Amino acid sequence: MAFDIEMIKEVYARMTERVDVARKVVGKPLTLAEKILYNHLWEGNATTAFKRGEDYVDFAPDRIACQDATAQMALLQFMQAGKKRVAVPTTVHCDHLIQAKEGAAKDLKFANKTSAEVFDFLSSVSNKYGIGFWKPGAGIIHQVVLENYAFPGGMMIGTDSHTVNAGGLGMVAIGVGGADAVDVMAGMAWELKFPKLIGVKLTGKLSGWTAPKDVILEVAGILTVKGGTGAIVEYFGDGAKNLSCTGKGTICNMGAEIGATTSTFGYDASMERYLRATDRSEVADEANKIAPYLTGDDEVYANPEQYFDQVIEINLDELKPHINGPFSPDLATIAGSDVTEKATANGWPLDVEWGLIGSCTNSSYEDLSRAASIAKQAVDKGLETKAEFGINPGSEQVRYTADRDGLLATFEALGAKIFTNACGPCIGQWARYSDPKNAPKNSIIHSFNRNFAKRADGNPNTHAFVASPEMVAAVAIAGRLDFDPTKDTLTNKDGVEVMFDEPTGDELPKRGFDVEDAGYQAPIVDGSGVDVVVSPDSERLELLTPFTPLGSDIKGAKLLIKAFGKCTTDHISMAGPWLRFRGHLDNISNNCLIGAVNAFNKETDKVKNQLTGEYGPVPKTARAYKAAGIPSIVVGDHNYGEGSSREHAAMEPRHLGVAAVIVKSFARIHETNLKKQGMLGLTFANEADYDLIQEDDTFTFSDLADFAPGKQLTLDVVHADGSTDSIKLNHTYNKSQIDWYNEGSALNLIKKENVK
Ligand code: F3S
Repeated sequence: MAFDIEMIKEVYARMTERVDVARKVVGKPLTLAEKILYNHLWEGNATTAFKRGEDYVDFAPDRIACQDATAQMALLQFMQAGKKRVAVPTTVHCDHLIQAKEGAAKDLKFANKTSAEVFDFLSSVSNKYGIGFWKPGAGIIHQVVLENYAFPGGMMIGTDSHTVNAGGLGMVAIGVGGADAVDVMAGMAWELKFPKLIGVKLTGKLSGWTAPKDVILEVAGILTVKGGTGAIVEYFGDGAKNLSCTGKGTICNMGAEIGATTSTFGYDASMERYLRATDRSEVADEANKIAPYLTGDDEVYANPEQYFDQVIEINLDELKPHINGPFSPDLATIAGSDVTEKATANGWPLDVEWGLIGSCTNSSYEDLSRAASIAKQAVDKGLETKAEFGINPGSEQVRYTADRDGLLATFEALGAKIFTNACGPCIGQWARYSDPKNAPKNSIIHSFNRNFAKRADGNPNTHAFVASPEMVAAVAIAGRLDFDPTKDTLTNKDGVEVMFDEPTGDELPKRGFDVEDAGYQAPIVDGSGVDVVVSPDSERLELLTPFTPLGSDIKGAKLLIKAFGKCTTDHISMAGPWLRFRGHLDNISNNCLIGAVNAFNKETDKVKNQLTGEYGPVPKTARAYKAAGIPSIVVGDHNYGEGSSREHAAMEPRHLGVAAVIVKSFARIHETNLKKQGMLGLTFANEADYDLIQEDDTFTFSDLADFAPGKQLTLDVVHADGSTDSIKLNHTYNKSQIDWYNEGSALNLIKKENVK
């Protein structure tokens, strides 16, 4: 599937030199994460030892992966860059927009009909710009990446938070916003705060009912959903070597649930086996040549406390099966009596209605085979399942092979629905109820990663618990959340008490992987003649028009909103049903700032239109100013724009005519996103000046013509009573970011430079 062996050889060819140089510069042995980071510095060899958790560093990732929901705006933006092809190997995967309802055949047909315009757009834009395209039904992005593209020692970014899954094959793989992906596609550097490092030492060996999933469920319990923030988690020790490659993928995948930048494992025999089984012996051969560079230095793993910021130790011999949840993946509970206690105390329904196996987290061949071994025992021992089963395989390759080997038939013997190889129930695309908001309280168990309220089926009363695939199978068959398969019996059809034997499975299929049509579309060599398909009538997609530079003469601007308190990117550009419009800037702009609280009336989506004196929705008011040719200003509090890195939160205000966002402080990524869109992201030099801003204010920038790095700007404010204030504003624009501003956006500048 066109993994790029030449690119991989190049990464490995420079790795020995760059790591050796970095070791000298840093002055100590290196972890694997550091080796990968220092080998991917934009500037080449290290000249300085970066401070973890402090320094912002430019990197040159090897690959990019995008899923269908986030790819839309990313690729619409990339089209603005004026490039013929993407600068680094990129793939697009259609997996998020496929509902799970009737089963794969019908559901896929339905998705191909309802989202045809999105899939056609992604297919044509991929073909044009040299991007590999994975069709709907081909699989879930992260499983497909693990099977085809991930490689030890590589660096990848992806427009999905579970991009981190590729750490299972020894990568540093990081989830990013679309704007970051576009930069790298366009040949620019990618900036990241040099991460802190958490070491997890694994000793012992999994056995019986414990699975790789239990490792990360245990880690989540220790670190909680925020404990990994800003850090790379590196797993090592003999216990790590005893895990399968796809098991390592599961552990890295759920690193997103502890907020980690990413997670990774050193290259070992399990990775070599997986590379060879997935038809990438060439990669394994190359990796073997530099194997010591693809793992942490011996001294680091011998004395981890000296080299990591935090160290956790887990003995796999003692690890127990976990059932985490509900509503948060870090609520760790040991399967069995612990669950009984907590469920009784908290009112969690003990009856389990559904068991779901799959998602990008746990849909490998090994996962399916271990869960199927339990399903088979149920049939053989005369048990009937109490809960219903849904399976979503991670890729067509896994599905085809599992079908060939009878695994899917085993689940079907228990009445399981085999959903499309796609995200389905993991992303709220599970059509379980006709009216989810009013659906009853119930419990489900799944092998996915996230279990927030409404995530799977839209029902706020569904208590979702996370466990390994084999535990999901056992608990679903028993129909009891607190079922402990190591101790408890079940009564079969003949009234006989039976117990499950321990699960068994195959790390890799004995007869090898097989697939008829993996669902991949390679881009043509010269895409210059390809037309990108976007209907002018579409409500979901709209080609972008380059933003016009705001210039140095911003005067007479009106206040759009003075946001009070927390204003995250979700408040600025809400998700939920709005995601349908994420490829249509004008339509999605109707959610612009509708979640922000107006400081003057403490209401959301109700601001004063200074032209009419009336109060109305934020987007409508912004559109009124824009139509009148009047720029507008957004004022905000501390940490404005925190949360997800979605670029819509910057593009929408820009589209609606907002010239400047002035706040007490910014979340850095959002601040950069505003700069990329060619607008002003500024902070009050004196925070108290936030209080000076009134509802009827008019603004003029008096010294924008002298916009320069490190130089304050001045904002003249005219209040309704005619009184005035002059406010000093700080900014963090460097020279090239001021060029973005002057050109109207970073993409306009890239395009201009391409044309030169
Ligand atoms: Fe898809 Fe769920 Fe993974 S939405 S990418 S299966 S986390």
